[in-house]
Amino acid sequence: MRISVEQASEQIKQGEVVAVPTETVYGLAADCFNAHAVKKTFKIKGRPADNPLIVHISELNQLDTLAENISDDARTLIRNFWPGPLTLIFPKHHAVPDIVTGGLSTVAVRMPYHPLTLSLIRKTGPLTAPSANKSGRPSPTKAKHVEDEFKGTVPVLDGGDCSIGLESTVLDLTQKPYTILRPGYVTPAAIEDLLNTEVLKLTGSKKKLMSSPGTRYTHYKPSASVIWFSPLNPPSDKDAYYITHSFEARDGYISFDYNADFDLLARHLYDHFRTADHLKFQKIFIEELPPDQNHPVIAPLKDRINRASSH
Ligand code: TXA
Ligand code: MG
Repeated sequence: MRISVEQASEQIKQGEVVAVPTETVYGLAADCFNAHAVKKTFKIKGRPADNPLIVHISELNQLDTLAENISDDARTLIRNFWPGPLTLIFPKHHAVPDIVTGGLSTVAVRMPYHPLTLSLIRKTGPLTAPSANKSGRPSPTKAKHVEDEFKGTVPVLDGGDCSIGLESTVLDLTQKPYTILRPGYVTPAAIEDLLNTEVLKLTGSKKKLMSSPGTRYTHYKPSASVIWFSPLNPPSDKDAYYITHSFEARDGYISFDYNADFDLLARHLYDHFRTADHLKFQKIFIEELPPDQNHPVIAPLKDRINRASSH
């Protein structure tokens, strides 16, 4: 069922869960201060209770009811990147229910860039919103994806296709050096330039050491196997779904050539994963991407595709 902002606001106030659009991916929204509603979100997603949620706000003064110790650096980031795809981790305010933060003493907050969801939050107050997919699956970037994912059981505020298509950058500001827990559209370089300070990027084993909650679980996986390939050594499987930017798939192969427009790939990546599953392909071959420095969206793309392809 598709609903209006007014109806979404009514549902949220009654403690229900609704799907909402953002510039990154669709979220599964609930009233952040209603522990019972937040609990429903975990249940619908099948999400482990120790993996915390991001709280979404529409006004800066809402931050004071969620977080403590909002530093000058945080304010600088907020001025430059909100509303937008940057999630910040702060020490948690006691008013935030423990279920929201999976028992952690920190809280993740962002102000999304989408007119419908901002107007919804103005009516309801802060909303928790994890990506609107079952735990471990690709995030939804269209209203239709959400409907397919939950078989129409979750009402959707349809805000069109997400303009970025990959989840927000998650930056931990509770300790220096600040650490990127999840790469996204806002790059470490952009943050370093702005704050004039070093920013750590969590990779591989370091990630486990830091035990960022979200990195313990599998993510972004379609049913098909996701496999990188080099155009120097291309696969010859006909019965596979190809995503390419320089390699020309043979005639008759199902392929998507995004013409090295990496923003376009980001916007459509999860849609391709879902389409390949829908068409019952067992394999998705993705042509290797160039080095990260060539485009800000390449690092987050590699991160998501690596996770989707891991066992
Ligand atoms: O773009 C996005 O961020 C989307 C849209 C809907 O806003 N939301 C999203 O939520 O991707 P979710 O729940 O799928 O991912 C949130 C990530 C998880 O990896 C979680 O572990 C991490 O943020 N996170 C949340 N609170 C945290 C905290 N207090 N400390 C460390 N990581 C946290
Ligand atoms: Mg998610």
